[in-house]
Amino acid sequence: MKFGVLYGIGVGPGDPELMTLKGARVLQGCHHVFVPKARSENGSIALAIAGRYLRADSLIHELVFPMSDDSGELSQHWAQAARSVSDVVGMGEDACFLTLGDPLLYSTYIYLVRSLREKLPGLDVVTVPGITAFSAAAALAEFPIGEGRQRVVIIPASDDLDVIGEALAGGGTLILMKLGRRLNKVVDFIEQAGFLDRAVYVARAGLDGQQVEADLRKLRRQEQAADYLSILLVHTGV
Ligand SMILES: C[S@@+](CC[C@H](N)C(=O)[O-])C[C@H]1O[C@@H](n2cnc3c(N)ncnc32)[C@H](O)[C@@H]1O
Repeated sequence: MKFGVLYGIGVGPGDPELMTLKGARVLQGCHHVFVPKARSENGSIALAIAGRYLRADSLIHELVFPMSDDSGELSQHWAQAARSVSDVVGMGEDACFLTLGDPLLYSTYIYLVRSLREKLPGLDVVTVPGITAFSAAAALAEFPIGEGRQRVVIIPASDDLDVIGEALAGGGTLILMKLGRRLNKVVDFIEQAGFLDRAVYVARAGLDGQQVEADLRKLRRQEQAADYLSILLVHTGV
């Protein structure tokens, strides 16, 4: 039997109008829709963004990908997700997998496709790109990402501040993602390095609770915990 096609659709960072026409069209054509979420009791952000483009008879399959650093726990969830998707495409049915932002930038979709290719060699996969969170953040903050020959470095916030220090020394623009609880530490580091006034913070771009902050000192006075869905953009001035 011929396998169904897996469509990986980037739904953009939050505003449903930032989902592409192609993403919406492909989603309309799929009965089986797989959506990622971080906890079984939470909703899927990607589904909330794309909800208006679902067809009436869409069958939603929720896949839990916990936010964990435990590689054993993560690989169990990835394997379960791959089984669920392969049960559908293995029967010849097409399926969509929705993902926040772009599917090929720090997304569980990457692991999913890798596992599926092992299980179902020859599976057709079509990836529909999405607007990344950093593009939306830059637009909200009117922050040019790169000009002329400037380099642009994306760093998934690491606890290793040396990585950020080296990037700052290297010049260009830094895009810091996955900050979460590390935010204050990273902001302190950027201040010590002398770049605080060249940085902006954007949280929950296009979602409820959106925040765009050019004065990073204010973040320290903020009561609520740093949002996982947040980005720092830093110009080094070189
Ligand atoms: C797992 S990565 C997903 C990246 C996504 N695939 C993309 O193309 O932007 C999650 C990180 O993306 C960023 N992010 C995603 N959505 C965001 C939003 N609406 N506002 C701000 N940052 C967001 C945050 O840095 C978050 O920690």
